[in-house]
Amino acid sequence: MMLKLSEVHTYYGDTYVLRGLSLEVPAGSVVALLGRNGMGKTTTIRSIVGLAPPRSGSISLNGRELTRLKSHQIAKAGIGLVPQGRHIFPSLSVMENLSVAARTGGRERAWSLDGVYEQFPILRERAGLKGNLLSGGEQQMLAIARALMTNPVLMLMDEPSEGLAPLIVRQIGDIILQLKETGISLLVVEQNYPLAQRVADYVYVIAKGQIVHHCSMAELDENEEIKVKYLCAT
Ligand SMILES: Nc1ncnc2c1ncn2[C@@H]1O[C@H](COP(=O)(O)OP(=O)(O)O)[C@@H](O)[C@H]1O
Ligand SMILES: [Mg+2]
Repeated sequence: MMLKLSEVHTYYGDTYVLRGLSLEVPAGSVVALLGRNGMGKTTTIRSIVGLAPPRSGSISLNGRELTRLKSHQIAKAGIGLVPQGRHIFPSLSVMENLSVAARTGGRERAWSLDGVYEQFPILRERAGLKGNLLSGGEQQMLAIARALMTNPVLMLMDEPSEGLAPLIVRQIGDIILQLKETGISLLVVEQNYPLAQRVADYVYVIAKGQIVHHCSMAELDENEEIKVKYLCAT
């Protein structure tokens, strides 16, 4: 198992958000975490990368316990994050955004600046442009490219399609499938059901900080009851 969360409990101060959440991402697969707003999807991602450390429970990557590590150590262990809202550096150029990220990766170089530009030709064209001058879709490509520069074995994407036009969402789907082909495992948080339906092998449905259902994507697609009750996918 690439990533394994067991009975994770996470709080913000006194606010109890993740209530014993467990999920697994097998190596080489795309797993989707689906659920409505405010259910704890981003908190799950933040728990994994050490930004909202769980109060109890276990999170491991290839059998290595992550819960007592700092964020930069978790990044070094091989987890790349594409955060919700992208959070690229607006006043740095595209190339600077990518170069900054390259330093956090400590493992063998699967992805170089050239490799990333090959995957995202538009970023080579925009290399000298400041981050805030990019379109929403280009910023999302940059956020994904920046995560790749750390050479992750597992990539976490938090609502990569948010606020993007259908054509760009389609491209994001293509990218997710291409990354899977390279052997990267992915945990993708989404509210866009058609995107999840296209890319995911397996699905977890979250409500109020707990997994309420999990099954293969194909099975979920047939399950109108779960889709109506927990998702906006009718
Ligand atoms: N920094 C925070 N401090 C306190 N409560 C928070 C914080 N971030 C999120 N929450 C609360 O935690 C719950 C889950 O939020 P979140 O994980 O962002 O949900 P989602 O990503 O599924 O929309 C929500 O009720 C939200 O209000
Ligand atoms: Mg969120």
